[in-house]
Amino acid sequence: MSGAVLEGKDLARFYTVNRGMFKPEATVKALNGVSFSLYSGKTLAVVGESGCGKSTLARLVTMIEDPTGGELFIDGKPARIGDRSLRSQVQIVFQNPYGSLNPRQKVGAILEEPLKINTDLDAAARRRRAEEMMARVGLRSEHYGRYPHMFSGGQRQRIAIARALMLRPKVLVLDEPVSALDLSIQAQVLNLLMDLQKEMGLAYLFISHGLSVVRHIADDVMVMYLGRPVETGPAAEVFAHPRHPYTAALLSATPIADPDRAKNRIRLQGELPSPLKPPSGCHFNPRCWKAQDYCRRVEPLLSGTGTQQYACHFPLD
Ligand SMILES: Nc1ncnc2c1ncn2[C@@H]1O[C@H](COP(=O)(O)OP(=O)(O)O)[C@@H](O)[C@H]1O
Ligand SMILES: [Mg+2]
Repeated sequence: MSGAVLEGKDLARFYTVNRGMFKPEATVKALNGVSFSLYSGKTLAVVGESGCGKSTLARLVTMIEDPTGGELFIDGKPARIGDRSLRSQVQIVFQNPYGSLNPRQKVGAILEEPLKINTDLDAAARRRRAEEMMARVGLRSEHYGRYPHMFSGGQRQRIAIARALMLRPKVLVLDEPVSALDLSIQAQVLNLLMDLQKEMGLAYLFISHGLSVVRHIADDVMVMYLGRPVETGPAAEVFAHPRHPYTAALLSATPIADPDRAKNRIRLQGELPSPLKPPSGCHFNPRCWKAQDYCRRVEPLLSGTGTQQYACHFPLD
């Protein structure tokens, strides 16, 4: 086995959607052919615009849904819905902690609930674990008896992170965990996540719609477009030398201080196409400044000579 704590092999998730009377049903290929390996203590960033399949991938990996194709392995074992021992190995933190924390529960109860359901620890032991975890994520002991609405956004995200860690999972799925926070708070929460990763050897699947957020936290990057990976590889390589035009466009969309580079920004043309009817050939071709007729006819596959792989007929050099 590869030693990966989380492995996806050619994962796919298709949805059948009803488009109304008189129209045939259609298929949305929310995820189509996604492979990756994630190791303890490492972060894989999954990046792409809204609708590219990031949350669908999160639902597969957390075993909320089964894939319609391909296979998922957690700790080397095939993962399927209903396998509770594997399920507790992978926990998730959502973008909006307000929606995911029960407003009627105090912090203590929120943190102890996973222990109540999944362990036979008694009340005193549960409380001890909750208080330990609160200290670890930077919450104070008097926060134990407070409700979620009494906290700021950043603190609520700390509560959500603490809850996700209560069962000592190996993998944390972070679905845009800082996108709803102010910039200064984003940095604090990212630093906390990096500290926790080091202390606990956690593997992160970090989902983001932009590349700038993951620059300092990612070991590997997977850039997705309409359900497919278009570029993958070590973060240092992808950031320094993007080969897929879409990656380059995402990178140049991130705020930069250098005015010369700002002038050379690549602007993505046009709208994201409907996932019900993706463009033929390379799905990115209608928005790509390098596209040629060949790109409209033939879909490019991920390829490359080294660790960096890209699905493009005319990669940047
Ligand atoms: N349950 C579902 N039924 C039909 N289509 C879905 C469903 N879930 C997601 N989709 C579609 O799959 C695509 C990917 O969605 P999603 O994974 O939420 O993307 P992201 O998180 O990157 O914004 C979108 O086109 C979305 O509309
Ligand atoms: Mg999403």
